[in-house]
Amino acid sequence: MAIDPRTNGASQAATAPRRARIRRQGLAAGIFGVGAAIPERVVTNAELVERLDTTDEWIVRRTGIRERRIIGEGQTLAELATDACLRALEDAGATGPEVDQVIVSTITPDRLTPGLAPEVARAIGAADAGAVDCNAACAGFVYALDQAAALVESGRARTVLVCGAEALSRITEHDERSTAVLFGDGAGAVVVTGAEDVETGLGGFVLRANGECADLLYAEGDFPVLKMEGREVYRHAVREMVASTQLALERAGLGVGDVDLFVAHQANSRILDAAAAELDLPPERLYVNVDKMANTSSASIPLALAQAEREGRLNPGDIVALAAFGAGFVWGAGVASWKEGTSVRA
Ligand code: ACO
Repeated sequence: MAIDPRTNGASQAATAPRRARIRRQGLAAGIFGVGAAIPERVVTNAELVERLDTTDEWIVRRTGIRERRIIGEGQTLAELATDACLRALEDAGATGPEVDQVIVSTITPDRLTPGLAPEVARAIGAADAGAVDCNAACAGFVYALDQAAALVESGRARTVLVCGAEALSRITEHDERSTAVLFGDGAGAVVVTGAEDVETGLGGFVLRANGECADLLYAEGDFPVLKMEGREVYRHAVREMVASTQLALERAGLGVGDVDLFVAHQANSRILDAAAAELDLPPERLYVNVDKMANTSSASIPLALAQAEREGRLNPGDIVALAAFGAGFVWGAGVASWKEGTSVRA
């Protein structure tokens, strides 16, 4: 006999009261802490010019990148991710045991399995937390942030740690000039918590994918180095990040004029400039740190958020528009108010 998917085989009479008992509403979700961790080793364009057929002028003009950070030999990505998470927790005035869920977005974990999140949860002392990795390539942080907001808003978690951690140097073809200049390593994290006095919080999320474009940007499992059709990626990235940002703002009941800072995936400065121009955002409301960090995939947005705050470009109550695009293709956008309201401690 087929199982009725609505009852999973149980009788309606048995399930109805149980459903009523477990359904509950959480609080509005907001970002209350941010942290970053970058490797010490800096690789400048000048260093790449010594061994590749390229120039500093070409790299800067086409990408805006001047230097990148590369993970140290023997250093694990879990260590970097843990540092970023501890800094985010400290910034939020929270501790590891208060975390209900750790979500780490990465395409370059230390091991194929287990993922990074269980080790990060252990290292920060999140003894009662769930821990899961998320792979949505360069868009992973936006996907993970949406999941964190949903967990808090549904009441299934009160505090969620969202980390983007990448060691792209592990999957870069270092003697191929068209890609070797583009990527860097690092980790950034935010603390998402429920709050009663949050108006905007996290919202408007738009998440999309188009698997037909898988061959335009990929790394194979048996020879994992990033390959891409740069121009196609560029074209799709600008178009989709603009459209999803517009829709996310609309869903959040906001307009472009409400955005204090546009923090998009830092792939290259031309993509960022083009997207901001199409959104009609003035340059002072676009955040760019790809010059120092290069493309760190899903770590780029939390790294940018941390740096923007340090530089005084992000202040409590500010409205941040987030957008990202990556291999899949997958892309997405969302809106976040910055440290708005008073977070609720577990
Ligand atoms: N130095 C010098 N010349 C180079 C280099 C280099 N590092 N790399 C490529 N070239 C040459 C090419 O060989 C080519 O030479 P040719 O005309 O003699 O054949 C010429 O420069 C133009 O190459 P294109 O690939 O067409 O250069 P383009 O202007 O498209 O710039 C770039 C390349 C920067 C990758 C661009 O396509 C781009 O920004 N794409 C966006 C993709 C991106 O940022 N991807 C990152 C990962 S995906 C993500 O994060 C979303």
